Amino acid sequence: MAQEIDALLQESRTFPPSEEFRKQANANDPEIWAKAKADREQYWADWAAELDWQTKWDRVLEWNPPDAKWFAGGKLNASYNCLDRHLATRGDKVALIWEGEPGEIRRVTYRELHAEVSKFANVLKSRGVASGDRVAIYMPLIVEAVVAMLACARIGAVHSVVFGGFSSDALKDRIQDAEAKLVITASSGYRRGTIVPLKKTTDAAVAECPTIEHVIVVRRRDEDEVAMQTDRDVWYHEAMANADANCEAVPLDSEHMLYMLYTSGSTGKPKGIVHTTGGYLTECYATCKWVFDLKENDIYWCTADIGWVTGHSYVVYGPLACGATVMIYEGAPDFPKKDRFWDIIERHKVTIFYTAPTAIRAFMKWGEALPRAHDMSSLRLLGTVGEPINPEAWIWYNQNIGGERCPIVDTWWQTETGGIMITPLPGLVATKPGSATKPFPGIDAEILDERGNRVEVGGGYLAITTPWPSMLRGIYGDPERFQEQYWSKWPGIYFTGDGAKRDEDGYFWLLGRVDDVINVAGHRIGTMEVESALVDHRSVAEAAVVGIQHEIKGTAIAAFVIVKESEREEAMRDPAKFEQELKAHVSEKIGAIARPEKILMTADLPKTRSGKIMRRLLRDIAEGRALGDVTTLADPSVVATLKEKYEEEN
Ligand code: PRX
Repeated sequence: MAQEIDALLQESRTFPPSEEFRKQANANDPEIWAKAKADREQYWADWAAELDWQTKWDRVLEWNPPDAKWFAGGKLNASYNCLDRHLATRGDKVALIWEGEPGEIRRVTYRELHAEVSKFANVLKSRGVASGDRVAIYMPLIVEAVVAMLACARIGAVHSVVFGGFSSDALKDRIQDAEAKLVITASSGYRRGTIVPLKKTTDAAVAECPTIEHVIVVRRRDEDEVAMQTDRDVWYHEAMANADANCEAVPLDSEHMLYMLYTSGSTGKPKGIVHTTGGYLTECYATCKWVFDLKENDIYWCTADIGWVTGHSYVVYGPLACGATVMIYEGAPDFPKKDRFWDIIERHKVTIFYTAPTAIRAFMKWGEALPRAHDMSSLRLLGTVGEPINPEAWIWYNQNIGGERCPIVDTWWQTETGGIMITPLPGLVATKPGSATKPFPGIDAEILDERGNRVEVGGGYLAITTPWPSMLRGIYGDPERFQEQYWSKWPGIYFTGDGAKRDEDGYFWLLGRVDDVINVAGHRIGTMEVESALVDHRSVAEAAVVGIQHEIKGTAIAAFVIVKESEREEAMRDPAKFEQELKAHVSEKIGAIARPEKILMTADLPKTRSGKIMRRLLRDIAEGRALGDVTTLADPSVVATLKEKYEEEN
C-alpha cells in the first residue's frame, strides 16, 4: 500500500471548473457542504420534498444502529416518481433511447414507458405477483428490462436483477436465496456478435428452483426458437397484448423494500443487499442533479448494465426520477468496431457520459484515432465509477473524450451505499486526476485507523460515520452477517471495506479493498467464491485466489491450485489443457467475469501455523515481487518452491 500512496502523491495537477461551467451548474454555491452539515436531516428532507409523496413522512430519520429508517411514515412509489409525475410536463419527452447491439434503435417517451410499465405490472399481478414478492430479472439491456424493474416497483414487488453474464448456477443460487416467485428473461441476448441463450440458462437454473411459478420471456429476436414449458412459461408479447394499460402505482411505505441486489463479500456466498424506497430514491435523485448536473435537454448515458448497482441507481431510478433522456446500449464497446461508443455519442448527441476506468484503459489501448474520427462536441460532462482511475487514464479521458472542456466526476460508492458518496461537484470542486475528491454534501465520510480514530491527513480505512438515505438496510435474510460485515469494526459506524487516504486539501484517494474481495474490471468478486468454484472441480483439492495487477482490468484473478493426489498424473499429462478446463469450470460456475487470468498448480500452499492461507505472499509471488515477511509460516520452504515454480512458468 505504501507504494501506491507514493505514486498517487506525485499527482499534483488540479483542474478547476471553468467559469462557464460553474455559472450554469445545478450546484454552484460553495457553502452547500456547510449548509448540509448545519442541519443534515433538514438538508435531506429538502431533497426528499422534490419527489412526489402520497403521504408526507412524520420523521426524517430513525437511527438505531445499524437500522435506519428514512422518512418514516411517508408513502410514495418509485415507479410513480420515475413516470407518472412527468406525464403532465414531459409526456412526449423521450425517456429511453435504446440501441441494440446489431443496431436497432428504439425511442420510448415517458408516456409510452408509463403505458408499458402499467401493462406489465398488470401482467405480473395476473401471474400471482403481490407486494413484497421477489421477482428475478435475468435479461440483456433492452427496454423491457427497465419496464420489468419499474413494473415490480409499481406494485411493491421486490426485484432481484441478476447480471445476464452470470451462469445458471449463479442465477439458481440467487433465485433460491431470494425465494423468488417469478423470473423475467429473454429468449436470447447479444454479446459481441454472438447469441447468448438466456432462456436456456434460465431453464437450467429454474429446474432447481421450486419457488418459481412462472417464467416470462421477452422475444429478443424473431427467429429465436426456445422451448416453452406449458403453464409455467409465458411470452411477454402475448401477455402484453391483452393487458390493461391502467395500473395504479401503489403508495408504499418509505421503508418498503424496492429491490435486492447480490454482491460479493469475503465469504463464499453472495450477499443480497437490500434497498428500500424513499431514502434510496432521494439520494439517487439528488446525486443525479448535482453530480451529473442533469438538465432538461441532456442526453445522458451511463454505460453500466442493469445487472449492477450502477445500472439501478444511474440508468433507471436516478435519471428517470429526474425526467432525463437516458441512452441505453445493449452490447459490447468493440462491436462491430472499436469505436462503437464514440459512434453512439456522435449519432445520439450524448451530453453526459458515465463509464468505468477499465473501459477507459481499453479505449486508451485502442488508440485516440478512434474517438478523433467522431464529432463528440455534444459532450459536456464525463464520469467514472467502479474502481480507482489511474491518473494517466484520467488525463487521456479528459483530452481525448472530453476535449479538455468537460469536467470529470470520479464517483466513489458501492452496492451497499446505493448512491454516490464521494465525488466532485462539477461546478464547484477542482478535480485532481485519480482522486474522488470530497464527500457529497450531507455525507460524512472519514478515514479511520484500526481503533476508529480519525486520520486527518494520511491513510486508513474509509468509513461513513452517520447514516445516509440510500444506505443498505440489510443483507437479505442474514441480519448477523449485516452487523458483522459492516458495523462491527467500530460501533455505529459503517465500514466500507476500502482503504483510502486523505491529502492536505482534504481530498480522498481510494486505495482498493482491504478485505478478500477482488475488484476485477470494476466488478466485485469474492476470493472465496472463486475458490469454491475451483474446489468444486473433481480434480482440485484446495485452491487460493488472489488479485494481481492487470493493464486493462485493473485487477485480475490468479489462482493457486492443489490437485488431488489421485488426479495429478492425469492433470500433468497436458497441464495447459487442464488449466483451460479449470478456467472454463469457474466460468460455468460463476460467469466469465470470474475466470482466472492465471492458474498455477502447486503441491502446497503457504499457511500460518494456525492453518490460514497467507494470500499476501501469494500476491507477492504472482506479481513477481520479493517475498514479504515469512516468519509466521508453518513451513517457509513452501513459498520458496512456489516462487521458483511460478517464475519458471511465467
Ligand atoms: O472498492 C471500491 C470500488 O468498488 C467497490 C464497490 O463495488 P460495487 O459494490 O460493485 O459497486 C461498484 C459501483 C458503485 C468499492 O468498495 N470503487 C467504486 N467506485 C470507485 C471505487 N474505487 C475507487 N474509485 C471509485 N470511484
